[in-house]
Amino acid sequence: MGELTGLKADLAQVVRLALAEQTEDVRLFAARLVRKYRGSEPELAEQVDLFLRAKPHRAGTPLRKTGTPALAEQVLPVDDESRLSLLKVFKDSSDRESPLLSAELEESLGQLIQERKQAARLAALGLTPTRSAIFVGQPGVGKTLTARWLAAQLGVPLYVLDLTAVMSSLLGRSGSNLRAALDFAKRSPCVLLLDEIDAIAKRRSDDTDIGELKRLVTVILQEVDEWPAAGLLLAATNHPELIDPALWRRFDLVVEFKMPEAAAVKEAIKRFLGQDFALFGRWIEILTFAFRGQSFSDIEREIQRFRRAVALGTTPDADLVEDFIKARALSLDRQGRIDMAVLLAKQTRLSQHSISDITGVSRDTIRKYTADGSIVVPKKRRREA
Ligand SMILES: Nc1ncnc2c1ncn2[C@@H]1O[C@H](COP(=O)(O)OP(=O)(O)OP(=O)(O)O)[C@@H](O)[C@H]1O
Ligand SMILES: [Mg+2]
Repeated sequence: MGELTGLKADLAQVVRLALAEQTEDVRLFAARLVRKYRGSEPELAEQVDLFLRAKPHRAGTPLRKTGTPALAEQVLPVDDESRLSLLKVFKDSSDRESPLLSAELEESLGQLIQERKQAARLAALGLTPTRSAIFVGQPGVGKTLTARWLAAQLGVPLYVLDLTAVMSSLLGRSGSNLRAALDFAKRSPCVLLLDEIDAIAKRRSDDTDIGELKRLVTVILQEVDEWPAAGLLLAATNHPELIDPALWRRFDLVVEFKMPEAAAVKEAIKRFLGQDFALFGRWIEILTFAFRGQSFSDIEREIQRFRRAVALGTTPDADLVEDFIKARALSLDRQGRIDMAVLLAKQTRLSQHSISDITGVSRDTIRKYTADGSIVVPKKRRREA
């Protein structure tokens, strides 16, 4: 994609901010546009100005705390060249649904929250709460989601710094962009997430300006060390092996997000199905089997597709599930397909013929594996076999 400039770049930025529901940022940016285009595009400037006046800024966002300037006054840092806002803001209410977490994760994050809530007790003993943590795990397992939830639990906003955006700043600017973003985040209590922190490490191998990258790493190293205890600094990565060991060592806590186990897969399917569980519930065991090895976000995407199809009446639930497990069967080894066939025989009323068609396991094999009496196959048919 070519670099956008001028009006086009500004239009793209408005769309981005609007889609992120960053209404206050849209206002600030629009006000800037009015000033910028007053000379060259007076009609446009006037129209935007009218829109702004027609919808006055809402005072007192829930975030506003005494002593800290409201967000509208603290302008979010923007890269001057790309005009991309470097920080994304999330403000969620504390009754936000918690992510599906393993018992281990629940415990370590629970402790992190308690440390913050009982900071005074720790301080009396000369202790400070955990100030930084690094989230490690495959894509779609809930790293970003958990950061949002944590911030909501702590009653502070979450700022997400996309390091890819920082890295795409003009050479020589990424260091100052990074500093601007970090300084902004340090000004008031918040959770700051350095997302895809491996972006820096990854670039090290293919880039020319090693000096610049070293500076970025140095900036982050210092910040992790000096992060104020009022804030929480998080980082997330899919590639822990790429992280500079010196940086790695500095995080107070390493939180490992694993791919969901069977029980969590089942929970996720139920949660994502919502009220459609009534319809798909009869497939739960087979879906749990078929989704194993998939991330939460893969599961969510597929379930959303099912739900849309039944909502519009385009495909019946049975066909959706059948097509899906057929596709999944292709990625299984032979034993996996046999296990799936046995499960289908046990859990559904599908004929052996259909099961064989779905899983690619021959009817003879299905019979062999299910002939131990554990499944209900009419005696007559068994003899026929
Ligand atoms: N643990 C979870 N509990 C509930 N939903 C989840 C969980 N993990 C992921 N999801 C669903 O998948 C979506 C994507 O998850 P998220 O963005 O947190 O993944 P991630 O680990 O940050 O991935 P990436 O490494 O690609 O950034 C979430 O918005 C949510 O809908
Ligand atoms: Mg993420």
